[in-house]
Amino acid sequence: MSVGEARPHEAAALHVTGRALYTDDLALRAPGVLHAHPVQAPHAHARITRLDPLPAYAIPGVVRVLTAADVPGANDSGTKHDEPLFPDEVMFHGQSVAWVLGETLEAARLGAAAVDVGYEPLPSLVTIADAVDADSFQGARPTMVRGDVEAGFAASARVFEGVTSFAGQEHFYLETHASFAQVDDDGQVNVSSSTQHPTETQEIVAHVLGLASHQVTVQCVRMGGGFGGKEMQPHGYAAVAALGATLTGRPVRVRLTRQQDMTMSGKRHGFHATWKVGFDDDGRLQALEATLTSDGGWSLDLSEPVLSRALCHVDNAYWIPHVRVAGRIARTHTTSQTAFRGFGGPQGMLVIEDVLGRCAPVLGLAPEELRRRNFYVEGQATPYGQPVRHPERLDRAWQQVLDTGEYAVRRKEIERHNAGDPHRKRGLAITPVKFGISFNFTSFNQAGALVHVYKDGSVLINHGGTEMGQGLHTKMLQVAATALGLPIERVRLAPTRTDKVPNTSATAASSGADLNGAAVKDACAQILARIVPVRARLGTDAPWEDVVRAAYLDRIQLWAAGFYRTEGLSWDATTMTGTPFKYFAYGVAAAEVEVDGFTGAYEVRRVDIVHDVGDSLSPLVDLGQIEGGFVQGVGWLTLEDLRWDDSEGPHRGRLATQSASTYKLPSLSELPADLRVALLERATEDGVVYGSKAVGEPPLMLAFSVREALRDAVGAFGTPGTSVELASPATPEAVWWAIESVRR
Ligand code: MTE
Ligand code: MOS
Repeated sequence: MSVGEARPHEAAALHVTGRALYTDDLALRAPGVLHAHPVQAPHAHARITRLDPLPAYAIPGVVRVLTAADVPGANDSGTKHDEPLFPDEVMFHGQSVAWVLGETLEAARLGAAAVDVGYEPLPSLVTIADAVDADSFQGARPTMVRGDVEAGFAASARVFEGVTSFAGQEHFYLETHASFAQVDDDGQVNVSSSTQHPTETQEIVAHVLGLASHQVTVQCVRMGGGFGGKEMQPHGYAAVAALGATLTGRPVRVRLTRQQDMTMSGKRHGFHATWKVGFDDDGRLQALEATLTSDGGWSLDLSEPVLSRALCHVDNAYWIPHVRVAGRIARTHTTSQTAFRGFGGPQGMLVIEDVLGRCAPVLGLAPEELRRRNFYVEGQATPYGQPVRHPERLDRAWQQVLDTGEYAVRRKEIERHNAGDPHRKRGLAITPVKFGISFNFTSFNQAGALVHVYKDGSVLINHGGTEMGQGLHTKMLQVAATALGLPIERVRLAPTRTDKVPNTSATAASSGADLNGAAVKDACAQILARIVPVRARLGTDAPWEDVVRAAYLDRIQLWAAGFYRTEGLSWDATTMTGTPFKYFAYGVAAAEVEVDGFTGAYEVRRVDIVHDVGDSLSPLVDLGQIEGGFVQGVGWLTLEDLRWDDSEGPHRGRLATQSASTYKLPSLSELPADLRVALLERATEDGVVYGSKAVGEPPLMLAFSVREALRDAVGAFGTPGTSVELASPATPEAVWWAIESVRR
């Protein structure tokens, strides 16, 4: 049995020894490869009045300047037709307006600096507030409604109103955006791309080049992290490489420097939310009315589905009888914000967790009591109408964290500590996660696989999902080995390619293993079914190799294409109702922190997590996903401080945090001193491959426990019953300001 075994990541040894090949490693092995460098605009918003490539050609080693005039197909790098690959109007500071190909990267860089571009600066909108004032929005404006909020407020004993705004997040995958293109003798375009969505990269490359999809093949060997940032954003870079290769006949590589990546690519959406909430005498939520405004940046990209998921997660784990939540997407002159682990879910959930964290002291309830009291119970449905299945799992995880985390004992210890120390206060908090699994857009919930059994009995599998470090390939090997009843060493996996499995969905929404795993299993089952007569003839004890050999001689097809579609899903994007999710993933975390009253600096002392992954396909991989997701969430909520220059000065709109020196990421020193993760037991999920649940995104939201623990510690500097407002990210500086305000 291979599924459920604790195995290291299939490429762990390659990763840590540096032998793993990434897209740009392939490029550097190609003789005669040309290097691409962008010409980045120095304005947040400007009309391009002149673009003269001639001076670049004076630089030795410059081979070709790519401009709009070179595009044989559509000058468009997105799926919404609002993202010109070569713009005539600059929409954000750092946008590429042309690309230069050189014999060396240095030649390309000098060439890019020499391209003569004239700009006529235009007024720009840098913040959500700027966009709201200017009535600058894009895309749909959905509203999710259940019940009657007015009646809910009328029946509420307490009603509160507030504003919650919070920042986005830079993906900071270790491997920046990379693409490498080659054209063969017949004009067939082959692109290697660091992309979570090879099919869509293929489609964009095809439409830019004016080709059909069968003339373009996209491969993704692996990514050095994607985190959602490579779901939609790689397409333009792939198109630049493919266009360059087509025009020059030479291989072309595009690989962004960190600074280019940070200034050009989209990030997690920051949000601004206004809310009004009603509770009854017992602290039970009665009504929630809110308006969520996301910062979409300059183009739509994935902002609409991200907003939908935000609306679908404002309830988090809580039953709210009357709900009216409106969403809208600000259009600003910044990078085009995109998918990022959780895909809007974290943003929606942050709103309700902030509401509960702020209201608890005023309601006279411990925050954990307020949260627990409002949990869904069996028979209740989400605001969009999907029944909440297995809510008792959340109770179980919650209780386990309280018990094994010795919550009550530590609460007492902390009170004792805080009473004795005026300058350093400790805080403790426990928070739940309920996260819907499946793409909201029902059609995306399909996957394919290709399984080959060779005459010697060895097996090669291919599936539509991409590997970005999350261990999908490891899980797929385990699924195939289990389905075929073979040792895992007999199975190998080939890189993801659009000519192997077509029409794939992005590897996203945490559904990679659910969808592709079921497709791999389906292909294996087809092959096994075909060889049943051979097995019957040779006896059940016959070695696999003998059965395969005999099956081949009998002219039995030893390979199969598998397919899977998730049944039972529905979603109406206009009414915002349906059953968009196959199931919910649950988790609970408790965090303890200590805050210094002089500086606002803090440390996370201990974290206890119980997370529901169903029957784990691969427990070590899942553990890594939980730890990694949690820490990435802690980074978003407490450290990573994304800033654009919003002054009226000459650098207006410029990303101020464009490298690791100014953008603080969580590192080893920010890990909780004591981090304990357990998988929820007795958690088989029926109807999913081997009873497993998705794990990629949900654990990120366990990090709310840290934010709420910081709030608790800040509160200890003031008088009990004070509502604590905490900025997000809750950097030491923000924590210090929060302490200042509760002291007053
Ligand atoms: N883990 C690693 N190591 N690197 C990543 O880029 N991406 C996350 C998550 N875990 C990511 C990761 C995101 S955003 C998603 S949607 C899922 O993995 C995608 O993979 P899955 O569907 O196979 O879980
Ligand atoms: Mo993940 S944000 O769905 O790529």
